[in-house]
Amino acid sequence: MISKNMTAALNTHLNRELYSAKLYLSMWSYANCAGLKGAGNWFMVQYQEEMVHFMKFNAYVNSQGEQVKLGMMEEIPSEFTSFLDLFEKTLAHEQSITGWINELMDLAIQEKDHATQIFLQWFVTEQIEEEENDREIIGKLKLIGDNGQGLLMLDNELAARIFVPPPAAATA
Ligand SMILES: [Fe+2]
Ligand SMILES: [Fe+2]
Repeated sequence: MISKNMTAALNTHLNRELYSAKLYLSMWSYANCAGLKGAGNWFMVQYQEEMVHFMKFNAYVNSQGEQVKLGMMEEIPSEFTSFLDLFEKTLAHEQSITGWINELMDLAIQEKDHATQIFLQWFVTEQIEEEENDREIIGKLKLIGDNGQGLLMLDNELAARIFVPPPAAATA
């Protein structure tokens, strides 16, 4: 059993993970239209990962006997300016998500809610990986500058990213 307060906080956050999925789908579309098929692939994998994050929260709230509430009808950004802009916005968004995961963890600790702390641990680790991936790509993009050949090579590298589905139990 989790508190009403915790349920509400988890509900708010699962909507943010859904927002993340939509944001990366919007970036997928921009990248494809800009001829960056590799970056498009990278954002498609990111979209799929976000749907996994979203489903993990849904499954956890449900497993605690609480109903999920969906309802964040926010405008999704669709105006991007460059390869670099996509990843700078991705990193900034993931840093916000990290902050919110930390706030959820603070609440779980404050409420002595051990189950939610264990559940959130996976996300604490995941956010380190998310930010690291984005920073690595931003670093490469800054080195490349506007060298077309370098950009194409990086785009090819991003084309190789594959989605690894979680074990069925993780989102059941
Ligand atoms: Fe996420
Ligand atoms: Fe990830």
